[in-house]
Amino acid sequence: MGKIIAIANQKGGVGKTTTSINLAASLGVLEKKVLLIDADPQANATSGIGIDVESVELGTYQLLEHSSSAKEAIIKTEMPNLDIIPAHIDLVAIEIELVDKDEREYMMKKALQEIKNDYDYILIDCAPSLGLLTLNALTAADAVIIPIQCEYFALEGLGKLLNTIKSVQKIHNPDLDIEGLLLTMYDSRLRLSNQVVEEVQKHFNDMVFQTIIQRNVKLSEAPSFGESIINYDAASKGATNYLSLAKEIINKNA
Ligand SMILES: Nc1ncnc2c1ncn2[C@@H]1O[C@H](COP(=O)(O)OP(=O)(O)OP(=O)(O)O)[C@@H](O)[C@H]1O
Ligand SMILES: [Mg+2]
Repeated sequence: MGKIIAIANQKGGVGKTTTSINLAASLGVLEKKVLLIDADPQANATSGIGIDVESVELGTYQLLEHSSSAKEAIIKTEMPNLDIIPAHIDLVAIEIELVDKDEREYMMKKALQEIKNDYDYILIDCAPSLGLLTLNALTAADAVIIPIQCEYFALEGLGKLLNTIKSVQKIHNPDLDIEGLLLTMYDSRLRLSNQVVEEVQKHFNDMVFQTIIQRNVKLSEAPSFGESIINYDAASKGATNYLSLAKEIINKNA
């Protein structure tokens, strides 16, 4: 049965989109069928995977307002086993559109029902906010991955995110698990990076993925070519790290 994983942190620039694209591509390379859903109006996952955002007609917006089915909104990517439901800048409007709808938090969950079992993993790249878009993702999800940047203020906002997850568990989605906290942009030369790793591992123990994503310039270059790290530079540290994360997740769910 397909597992839906939201990649969420309301803190901006922590590696949500980089993780969504490259974890999705890595799971695909490891022969899992994967759907990536871009749930951020910035549409970085869409462009990062090589889709022209301006050309998007059916995407997450239509999915959430139920004017398009998931099947209609799915696009195949050039990567093996990887499909995407793209986003367009229009998606900003969905928060206002949904606000007075009944069951507004359940729009994504309902839309994904018909395709959930066509995939092994469905990854949702969330926006840096805790608005209705992210609540829809958390309500639809079986689990959440929380990327944490090994930087100043790494844990800022984490309490608020964990409280939001708790309230989603209580009200909308009692089965929501935390798949793991993912340390990103780690630089072994920096004392601060090492301090963040120590602190997070001490507080959260086995909630933290063993795989740590290192800072790697190739990871930041790949999206401008519309490629995952596997296509852009399969020998890079970034590719090795994300493949290792994919294997860790596959083993955890075996
Ligand atoms: N491991 C890494 N090594 C080097 N650069 C990275 C790494 N991970 C992410 N980046 C870069 O850091 C920036 C922020 O990453 P990303 O866009 O994935 O974060 P985000 O959490 O999705 O941001 P937003 O909150 O705006 O959606 C991007 O420029 C990205 O290329
Ligand atoms: Mg992003």
